Amino acid sequence: MPNLVGSGSYSTVVLAKYPKLAATHPLIAIKNIDRRQAGDYVKRFLPRELEIVKAIQHPNICSVLEVIEHNHYLCFLTELCDGGDLLEKINAAKRIPETEGKVLFRQLIEALSYLVENEIVHRDLKCENIFLDKDQNIKLGDFGFARYLRTGEKSKTFCGSRAYVAPEILRSVEYSGHTVDIWSSGVVLFVMLTGMMPYDERNVQKMIDTQLKHKVKFPRSVDLSVEARTLIYEILHPHPVSRPTCQQIKLSEWLKATPYVIHKAKKVSVSLPPSVKSAPSSSSSTTTKPTPDE
Ligand SMILES: Nc1ncnc2c1ncn2[C@@H]1O[C@H](COP(=O)(O)OP(=O)(O)O)[C@@H](O)[C@H]1O
Ligand SMILES: [Mg+2]
Repeated sequence: MPNLVGSGSYSTVVLAKYPKLAATHPLIAIKNIDRRQAGDYVKRFLPRELEIVKAIQHPNICSVLEVIEHNHYLCFLTELCDGGDLLEKINAAKRIPETEGKVLFRQLIEALSYLVENEIVHRDLKCENIFLDKDQNIKLGDFGFARYLRTGEKSKTFCGSRAYVAPEILRSVEYSGHTVDIWSSGVVLFVMLTGMMPYDERNVQKMIDTQLKHKVKFPRSVDLSVEARTLIYEILHPHPVSRPTCQQIKLSEWLKATPYVIHKAKKVSVSLPPSVKSAPSSSSSTTTKPTPDE
């Protein structure tokens, strides 16, 4: 497909120009969702995704500018995140140095705080769903499993990727609110700083046992600060209520000296960026990453 910038389980995303938006967005990304596809997603999750993406606005969340219907397709016209996704960035660099990781993670936590304030759970937080703009700012995307979860409300739905989801979701225990996203952010942070997965998802029961024992094994080959290890360990707490809040994460030893900054655009370019011109994003599977055991 020409100008394909990415694809996921439920959509294909292409680069496009859209005259109506050209003044502010010379290039956009269009997420095309085929409503004829089988499974739960279209009937159950897509209406929620639609409601949520229309309602939210934050500098670290990928904006949906307009939604149009085209034949069997629902098309989300979104701001272009031409820095690719976080998984591609980690794969290219092997791992992200802590100084850079702090700035990126600070932005991710800012996006999560916003979701908490708005009583939204994302439920599919993973490196492939965290995009980057051309100035390397975090843009959280893919609200395909998101929903409003009001205070006191609970859900039992299994959502997300095994390697990133909290143990209560893996165990089909009812969960409430953002603590499941906080867990996933801990996995994201681990992957970002080590280039490895924290748990071996091939044996789910073993993975759950490890998580419930609150064991986090860091690779010996990576020189990680005590502050980074401590924060990851605290986030990956088996009891949801014991996980730090966004505010506590911001004030952690690892992050407290890192101000929240958004890198500002130099000049908007209308030419096709080389990263998207040549194409399809690899969308490489997280399962190919080793864990520290290997
Ligand atoms: N706005 C965007 N700008 C650039 N790339 C994007 C954008 N939205 C999605 N992508 C790419 O397309 C992939 C699939 O999009 P996503 O929203 O995650 O859909 P799915 O629900 O199918 O996983 C992403 O992993 C990313 O690589
Ligand atoms: Mg996705």
